[in-house]
Amino acid sequence: MKARRALLYMPGDDRRKIEKATTLGVDSICMDMEDGVAANKKTEAREVIAQAMKELDFGVSERCIRINQIGSGLEKRDLIAALATNPDTIVVPKIESAEQVKWVSEHIESYELSSKANIGSVRLLVGVETAKGIMNLKEIAEADKRLEAIIFGGEDFAASVGAVRTKEATELLYARQAVVTACAANDLQAIDIVFIDFKDPEGLRVEAEQGARFGFSGKQIIHPNQVQVAQEAFTPSTEAVEYAKRVVESFEASQREGKGAYALDGKMIDMPLLKNAQKVLERARAAGKSGART
Ligand code: COA
Ligand code: MG
Repeated sequence: MKARRALLYMPGDDRRKIEKATTLGVDSICMDMEDGVAANKKTEAREVIAQAMKELDFGVSERCIRINQIGSGLEKRDLIAALATNPDTIVVPKIESAEQVKWVSEHIESYELSSKANIGSVRLLVGVETAKGIMNLKEIAEADKRLEAIIFGGEDFAASVGAVRTKEATELLYARQAVVTACAANDLQAIDIVFIDFKDPEGLRVEAEQGARFGFSGKQIIHPNQVQVAQEAFTPSTEAVEYAKRVVESFEASQREGKGAYALDGKMIDMPLLKNAQKVLERARAAGKSGART
């Protein structure tokens, strides 16, 4: 699966920001039709995105379009307009049931059939960001094989349960861990909350590293300043990669000697630690980090 260490949003009606995004080397660019766009600019956003998709070279970045939520009355027109631009990926916010995931996926499939694209070629990411979405995480995560990631929206979730957002984000802990768990159980990527204070790179780093430690594979971001910090936080460090390689190698040797558990640098290593080391190497490879062996 494509690495999505950072997913950068910008309002779909803002051509200048879309152009800027293509110069940043960010893993994913998400042109927004939803909450980043004023109610009276929804039509313009569809048009600006279509034009940008036709004219701009997005380089290494994934081209994502976020449509309005199902039930808003805008979702069908958004989806038709988004698919007509031949995007890499559709993002659907505020998903609350498996049925909604299937509805989108079926529409995408009809488009793929009619445009003679390969079935499954358009990817799907969904936002879970309400109390109901968190309650239905299991069915959402299992709903459709087109689905590649769940994006957890912290601000919307806080609004949905009436929580006060704090910098420590303890009010989001349960939901963040629930998302990571549902994703891991279904081989999906989990994409963490936005850090809205885009002038505080240190705060962003702390939150992004915490998300990476929780098991998230990437983070939503909202400003060019945030690209590098986020992408670094979700790329295993050279030391982490080196240590993971030593765990894998010493594990193999210890298995050959008939030992399930053994000591490395004064710490016990057994099967779960091997699996964790393999995950580190997998992430490093997905991020294109050299030195990670296959
Ligand atoms: N994507 C691409 N470029 C962006 C950007 C983004 N999300 N946010 C800012 N930029 C660009 C600006 O256009 C500006 O470029 P310029 O110097 O060539 O004009 C430069 O980066 C510096 O921007 P700055 O002046 O610091 O920010 P701003 O006041 O213009 O915008 C926000 C601040 C928060 C409005 C803006 O970052 C933004 O729109 N973020 C995304 C919001 C969004 O999509 N929300 C919905 C999903 S949560
Ligand atoms: Mg949201």
